[in-house]
Amino acid sequence: MKVLVIGSGGREHAIVDALTRSQQVEQIYAAPGNAGMAAVAECVAIRETEIERLVAFAKEQAIGLTVVGPEVALAAGVADAFKAEGLRIFGPTKAAARIESSKEFAKCLMAKYNVPTAGFKAFTDYEAALAYVAGRSFPAVLKYDGLAAGKGVVIAQTLEEADEALKDMLLDTKFGAGKVVVEDFLTGPEFSFMCFVSGEKVWPMQLAQDHKRAYDGDKGPNTGGMGAYSPLPFITTEDEQYALEQVLKPVARAMVKEGCPFEGVLYGGLMKTPEGVKVIEFNARFGDPETEVVLPRLKSDIVDIFCAVADGTDAELEWHDFATLGIVLASKGYPGDYAKGVEIGGLEQVESTVFHMGTKAVDGKIYTNGGRVLFVVGKGATLAEARTNALADVARIACDNLFHRTDIGHYVLDDK
Ligand code: AMP
Ligand code: GLY
Repeated sequence: MKVLVIGSGGREHAIVDALTRSQQVEQIYAAPGNAGMAAVAECVAIRETEIERLVAFAKEQAIGLTVVGPEVALAAGVADAFKAEGLRIFGPTKAAARIESSKEFAKCLMAKYNVPTAGFKAFTDYEAALAYVAGRSFPAVLKYDGLAAGKGVVIAQTLEEADEALKDMLLDTKFGAGKVVVEDFLTGPEFSFMCFVSGEKVWPMQLAQDHKRAYDGDKGPNTGGMGAYSPLPFITTEDEQYALEQVLKPVARAMVKEGCPFEGVLYGGLMKTPEGVKVIEFNARFGDPETEVVLPRLKSDIVDIFCAVADGTDAELEWHDFATLGIVLASKGYPGDYAKGVEIGGLEQVESTVFHMGTKAVDGKIYTNGGRVLFVVGKGATLAEARTNALADVARIACDNLFHRTDIGHYVLDDK
């Protein structure tokens, strides 16, 4: 089978990597792909949102399966377009992807089907939102209702901060016209629970935890994720069962009832609060960088599961026992301004798996080409061993313009 992967980051590199382990894959294409994927896939110069060109390519090349990485492609209707042409695609329709693209849709669905989450209220009017927030306790959680590349959530400590955020979102429409959802503030460790979903069928993946802040000790600005690891020993089997039975499965059933059955990866961004597991957000796709630590642990042939989801058939998932821990190497200055085009050396000495997030290859040399550049995934019998291995390999990578966190996994390995 020929398989096309849509996307250009570390997540898509991890999907391509899992596909290379399949017995059924004859050729992998990536659109647009990146320098890392180019080692095992043919990169095609089509962007994630050029839907007509993607459909035309899949037809021309007789692609048997297309896998979608990024939410922008889903929200633009890539799955709808492929299905309309009878092409097999792994990823939800535009209507189903609203579970991620619209906070209000997700919150209303959870309220209607009794899925545990923070209490909320949605606003379009700035004055009304401000008055509501002023009458509540702080911190206040304010979320822009739409895709804002991870920048649409503000945890305001004071009324002044909340006012500024509400002005940005509702008066100056910084992310576009839209609503703001005001939520109750929850506390507890966060974790990511990704499931393969096909209508009412739900296949859970292994759990992972992301690290969103730029610097050690969870300090500094929010980023797209600076590291991740799997499994999560602090989430008990009971917590996991509860999340599966009270969150992921009910949401899959609810989407069927609402007339927009979900097909693809349903990502539950969950929090283990003192009152039990609650939903922070849903994503309609593989998490990044969680995918890069979860898929290396998948023992089953990933093509079987992608096809089972797309075709509504059955599959079983088996997992390796080893732990994985991944560290992002990011350009100095990220998530703010940063330089590009700095040469990266030492990659040939690395033993761990390295996923490319933002690189460029020129004349056989690799250069930085993004905010998050590389993701080094260590393996080990324990998380501690996986971290030691990842850090040892990070030290082998020579580049003047990269930084990384040294405390990935601290909640399990260092705290208390
Ligand atoms: P989101 O984009 O919805 O995942 O929110 C980004 C981050 O903001 C989350 O990973 C949490 O750390 C934090 N956050 C979001 N909602 C809440 C909430 N209701 N209570 C506490 N923290 C939250
Ligand atoms: N790691 C968070 C996300 O994929 O949205």
